[in-house]
Amino acid sequence: MKIIKAIRGMNDILADDAKIMAQIQRCCETVFRNYHYQRIATPIVEKTELFARSIGAETDIVAKEMYTFEDRNGDSLTLRPEGTACCVRAGIEHGLFYNQQQRFWYAGPMFRHERPQKGRYRQFHQIGAESYGWATPDIDAELIGITQQIWEDLGLSGIELQINSLGSSEARVKYKESLVDYLMQFEADLDDDSQRRLKTNPLRILDSKSESTQNILLSAPILTDYLDDESAKEFKQLQAFLDAQGISYTINPKLVRGLDYYNKTVFEWVYPNLGAQATVCAGGRYDGLVEQLGGKSTSGVGFAMGVERLVELLKEQQIAVIDNSPDVYFISVGETARTTAFSLSQKLRKNGIIVQSHCGEGSLKNQFKRADKSGAKWALILADDEINAQEVTIKPLLSRGEQTSILQSQLLTTMATLLKA
Ligand code: HAM
Repeated sequence: MKIIKAIRGMNDILADDAKIMAQIQRCCETVFRNYHYQRIATPIVEKTELFARSIGAETDIVAKEMYTFEDRNGDSLTLRPEGTACCVRAGIEHGLFYNQQQRFWYAGPMFRHERPQKGRYRQFHQIGAESYGWATPDIDAELIGITQQIWEDLGLSGIELQINSLGSSEARVKYKESLVDYLMQFEADLDDDSQRRLKTNPLRILDSKSESTQNILLSAPILTDYLDDESAKEFKQLQAFLDAQGISYTINPKLVRGLDYYNKTVFEWVYPNLGAQATVCAGGRYDGLVEQLGGKSTSGVGFAMGVERLVELLKEQQIAVIDNSPDVYFISVGETARTTAFSLSQKLRKNGIIVQSHCGEGSLKNQFKRADKSGAKWALILADDEINAQEVTIKPLLSRGEQTSILQSQLLTTMATLLKA
């Protein structure tokens, strides 16, 4: 029979990676708690219009990458490609922005129909944060500080911060005109994507991977020169707030981001060794989005981290926690021994000891084989002799020490002492 496989670009997360993901999420939760961010969760499916109206019709995400379908009522729905639009939608719907400031975080799967490759998937996971109601760049710096703290707490090094300011929308329109004027002189020499973007989304040409386009861009007008006074002043303030936190950064005037909702601050954290998919976290300010989606004008700024890329990084830097072995493997032979083993195992687990029970029949020899394979530090053995004497036998599996028998009533204290040692 034909085997059914998972959808291309949508991965099963097996035990080792799931552990590393949990390690990342635990670390993020602690940092978010310290900064007093509140967790929220929005549905995975939203009305298509939400993303079309926020991310921008000409962006790659909306033009080419959304998983859009009609549901049974004929409504056009989309699997969320990102979390920011969803947070804004939820905030407006529940009146959370009305005379209030908010700090949120979220975690979950996102979906984009991109060409799968290492670090780029069609279902991937983000952990993100969004703040609403602050117009000043201290909140931008706080969000960047959160990410820096997460790298530190995870033990990661070598992730580099790039920042830029896109300025006000008016400043950006002026810059866009100058950029298009300049690039039109070289239209024929631009790569195909950039030729198309000249008409649809010229700022994204700055991101082009083509060497010849990048050569043309060397003498192109620079976004920084077009900044309005307020944005320029706030960009300087942002840098002072970053300096105050001891965060290093480079200003990258070509950093524009692939989503249309940004203004002023944009940033990316890049780990160059990850190759083509090197951005592990990205974000920025989006002061117009709440109003654009029908809410009262409210400043917004946030970021999202790519969890799969962080998993790779933790593996590469060998700081991933993937110890899958139990403390104890419980061997039992005979009906009475098996039931007694169940109640003793329960007591150990309730006290934080990781116990893998042998389930099903099996000779002592066979059970010992499994105990060794499990990687457990200790085997506990219950057979007829132990049952009759109300004892349990403890055998070290990782060292060559002798096995000993103790009273069942002393098992918990003995194991606790052994594991501590
Ligand atoms: P984004 O740059 O589209 O921004 O995605 C953020 C991060 O998600 C990327 O830097 C990357 O690590 C990860 N990522 C994106 N696409 C994929 C993929 N196909 N496979 C694996 N990882 C991926 C946003 O999504 C914005 N919502 C960020 C934001 C929040 N801006 C303001 N608030």
